[in-house]
Amino acid sequence: MLTQNQLKLAVAQKAIEFVPDDAIVGVGTGSTVNLFIEELSRIKGRIRGAVSSSEASTERLKAHHIPVFDLNAVDDVPVYIDGADEINHYLHMIKGGGGALTREKIVAAVAREFICIADETKYVSVLGQFPLPVEVIPMARSHVARELVRLGGHPEMRHGFTTDNGNIILDVHGLSIAKPVEMEETINQIAGVVTCGLFARRRADVLVLGRQNGVEVIR
Ligand code: A5P
Repeated sequence: MLTQNQLKLAVAQKAIEFVPDDAIVGVGTGSTVNLFIEELSRIKGRIRGAVSSSEASTERLKAHHIPVFDLNAVDDVPVYIDGADEINHYLHMIKGGGGALTREKIVAAVAREFICIADETKYVSVLGQFPLPVEVIPMARSHVARELVRLGGHPEMRHGFTTDNGNIILDVHGLSIAKPVEMEETINQIAGVVTCGLFARRRADVLVLGRQNGVEVIR
């Protein structure tokens, strides 16, 4: 029986196969990505560098002497490699458990291919068991929370946490998300929401899934 950490390591290693030579690689955030950064450092001679979705990943990349570019200075990101908190069979995801969802969504929007690396505990038939993170401008907290209740959710403020962009996170419990694209659009329309952690309009293109019987690649 492999541990969750061994499954994360297996997908981090597999993801290196998706990194083209001379690329500027989009790098996500989280414990699975931290393992990917270790693997990336072994092949850093064949890439130009990275764009990062969080201060935490930037620090790790720099510690491995991998050059980190400002996204505005880059016009082509062939692949973005990131984890997920939940992913369904359509490769729609809930992300933002680490609070980096907005920057993750921006790098994902620029990238040509989104490669999600996840262990099988993240693979679900319906999204929403994992509380949906929503990044909110602080003055809109109560308004956004009321609107999320109207949508059937139970928002909880993530206490003691500020995003890299200076905002707060509401974690929304109790949503069973049958229509991820519609839900993403609805929540993103609420005034004061920066973005929600649904990645459905821009889903993953490839899922590298760590299973007990091996790594499966799903497109
Ligand atoms: C970070 O904000 C999230 O979107 C991460 O991608 C997600 O939490 C996955 O993290 P783990 O790899 O630690 O499970």
